[in-house]
Amino acid sequence: MPNTAKIIGLGAYLPKKVLSNKDLEKIVDTTDDWIVSRTGMKERRIADSEEYTSDMGIAAASKALNDAGLEPQEIDLIVVATLTPDYTFPSTACIIQNALGCINAASVDVQAACSGYVYALSMAKAYIDSGMYKNILIVASEKLSSIVNYHDRNTCILFGDGAASCIVSSSKTGYSIKHISLGSDGEQSKLLILPAGGSKKPATSETVLNNEHYIQMEGREVFKHAVRRMESAVRKCLVASNLTESDISWMVPHQANIRIIDAIAKRFNVPKDHVYLTIQKYGNTSASSIGIALEELVREKEIKNKEKIVLFAFGAGLTWGAAILEYEENND
Ligand code: ACO
Repeated sequence: MPNTAKIIGLGAYLPKKVLSNKDLEKIVDTTDDWIVSRTGMKERRIADSEEYTSDMGIAAASKALNDAGLEPQEIDLIVVATLTPDYTFPSTACIIQNALGCINAASVDVQAACSGYVYALSMAKAYIDSGMYKNILIVASEKLSSIVNYHDRNTCILFGDGAASCIVSSSKTGYSIKHISLGSDGEQSKLLILPAGGSKKPATSETVLNNEHYIQMEGREVFKHAVRRMESAVRKCLVASNLTESDISWMVPHQANIRIIDAIAKRFNVPKDHVYLTIQKYGNTSASSIGIALEELVREKEIKNKEKIVLFAFGAGLTWGAAILEYEENND
């Protein structure tokens, strides 16, 4: 019997501090009406100044380990998806490994911006399906408030902080990862970028003065690519899994913009109450957003045996991806 990767535990963490649209009205020239109508966002969470990406990741991962009923030493690999690591190096995965006591785990960070959770899932699936590892801890954690310019109304309204985690394993019960479709288009890399701080433009007083350590985005252009790319990834997943759109029980989209989400749901005829949203309360938490929404969906709704959940994401790179999960109960 071949191994089939399944998600067997989920966890999430959101910082306590709330940044509302009304708060943003006091910082930049914007309105609650503009933000709600253009994005669907009302609030987002912001980490404390001394609360880091690894701290949020550790909190989410502890919950996922507990949910899966695993001990830290049973984890073989930790994959952390983030574009806001604590440091360029060492990896945030190594920091989390030490804090949790996952003494038998290898550790690596992946960087696929907002598509990071789906990219990390694809890696975990490949390792589990091949039989190389038994238990993999995925963590997606973002402190976007550390790279957002709170004087730029084009971007500061969009992003929030938070973390999500899951355990992928070769167990009999869980959310079976049926198929994953990934893609990228590096030709569009300038549409969404943090220009300085890497080897091309190391930090100088000039880069700081020019605000080059903050997210820069051509929102309208990104929007155009997002709908088309995510739709195509979901269609590829359906075909590869021998499913049709009527088989979709739940959609868990990347929470970037309600208009993007609505456009995709409409193309697959998925009713609005089966598209799981957290965008109104957490905004766009980049790599964490799908994981936070998935954890909440599973906690709040009763997912039945054989129900299918479609995840899809899109982000800087450009990168995108979709995954189909099917809940499988152990009926032995
Ligand atoms: N409040 C009020 N007005 C604003 C604001 C604001 N916060 N921000 C922009 N505006 C103005 C603009 O200046 C512009 O004014 P102008 O017409 O006088 O020039 C007008 O509103 C329209 O601006 P657009 O950028 O065209 O607005 P749009 O409808 O495209 O919405 C948004 C902007 C919300 C950013 C949208 O383009 C979007 O969601 N893009 C996709 C973002 C995304 O998917 N990112 C994914 C990944 S994120 C990651 O990987 C890190």
